[in-house]
Amino acid sequence: MYRRLIAPGALAAALMLAIPASAADFTPGASGIGDPYYPDYGNGGYDVSHYDLRLKYQPKTDVLEGTATILATSTQDLSRFNLDFGLKASEVLVNGKKARFATSGVEELEVTPPTGLPKGSSFTVVVRYSGKPSDVKLYGFTSPQRTPDGAVFANEPESAAWWFPSNDHPRDKATYDVSVAVPDGTQAISNGVLQSQTSKLGWTRFNWRSNKPQATYLATLAVGKFDITTDKTADGLPVVNAYSKDLGDNYGAARASVERTTEVAEWLETKFGKYPFNALGGYVPNVPSHFALETQTRPFYSPAQFANGANVSVIVHELAHQWYGDSVSVDGWKDIWINEGFARYSQWLWSEKEGEGTAQELADYVYAQHPADDAFWTVKPGDPGAENQFDIAVYDRGALAIQALRNAVGEKKFSEILKGWPQEHAYGNAKVGDFVQYAEKVSGKPLAGLFDTWLYQPSKPGTAAAQRDRV
Ligand code: ARG
Ligand code: ZN
Repeated sequence: MYRRLIAPGALAAALMLAIPASAADFTPGASGIGDPYYPDYGNGGYDVSHYDLRLKYQPKTDVLEGTATILATSTQDLSRFNLDFGLKASEVLVNGKKARFATSGVEELEVTPPTGLPKGSSFTVVVRYSGKPSDVKLYGFTSPQRTPDGAVFANEPESAAWWFPSNDHPRDKATYDVSVAVPDGTQAISNGVLQSQTSKLGWTRFNWRSNKPQATYLATLAVGKFDITTDKTADGLPVVNAYSKDLGDNYGAARASVERTTEVAEWLETKFGKYPFNALGGYVPNVPSHFALETQTRPFYSPAQFANGANVSVIVHELAHQWYGDSVSVDGWKDIWINEGFARYSQWLWSEKEGEGTAQELADYVYAQHPADDAFWTVKPGDPGAENQFDIAVYDRGALAIQALRNAVGEKKFSEILKGWPQEHAYGNAKVGDFVQYAEKVSGKPLAGLFDTWLYQPSKPGTAAAQRDRV
């Protein structure tokens, strides 16, 4: 009788409902966030909201040690999860309880909490660690730059794993408190606002706060002996700039450039809308590299950027990224054009304003400069591939696409798009396709063909397209 009332399968299902989810249903988070350009970067299964780093760095020995406290939420029933990290962890706690941890491959720290984390639970991870960051090779290379009096952590697309454990991918943005103790007489520079600076027992501790979502590669730390200038903008935002005392002949030009940060940011506000963060600045450490990076609120500049005198154009580029790249971040690294195309284009706008060539003149120049058989045109700015992520074509051909857009939609719609986009996705992530859609929505014009020509074809657009998109 009983069997007629309830089928065996249904009985089994009914019983399972009564049993709480067992540990067996919990699975490990993926070791990558799912970016086809960099399969290992970032992790799956959780989302970080805040990093609190309490560190100490000794320039003499290059030893960095301290504690990272990470606030996160699980996005699946999680038995175990990874952090991207290359230094040596000595202890890991999850919700205050000791967790098992192992390094699987140098750059992954695998954490197994004593009990699984049900989907949607917020949890706290504490990692105690130490190491010599400049010696550590991850993904086959070293990243931090040592200087005679310190070290600098600034790189793209990867930098965080050399100094703190993280979900190292721009799709998982978080706020930061970075507290770093360095020997008295030395400074520690990071993102955002300097909350306080205190000295005891021969160590000075700098407490920095970056209170808006920030991608991991935009978190920076520089230790060294700096001259620091401070100011306030008309809106009352603190400006902190730092120059290594050791810049030699580049010192004057570096200062003559970075000290124009407020002026440039205010000019960019007329193009892109309100500055998205609550602090400004820039820093120039004594490093041998040649690049600059839009580290959030406080870009990094290599001294080489100033070898020919003041270079305000690079300031324009890195500050433009605060809107295009930092507030609105790539969803995946293939979306790099929404960073570099616009940062380069903003340099063209600056040139236009300074009477050093209009954007159209610069676009015509770039177009003419590269003959049809130039490898330049084989790079698709809309999907350049990891090897070409920072190829000059992503910048220059990427800016050509923006000039084509300007010509197609006219001045009024163009400026509406440039200003509207950073609002539309403020503090979030976006894809190239989202930009195309947005530009179509604002302009009321179909633009897929134009963007296909300028962003996705592996060949030089013909003069017909160049003319059409010129008008
Ligand atoms: N986003 C940087 C820029 O403003 C590019 C950094 C490239 N990375 C590097 N290590 N060179 O152009
Ligand atoms: Zn850039």
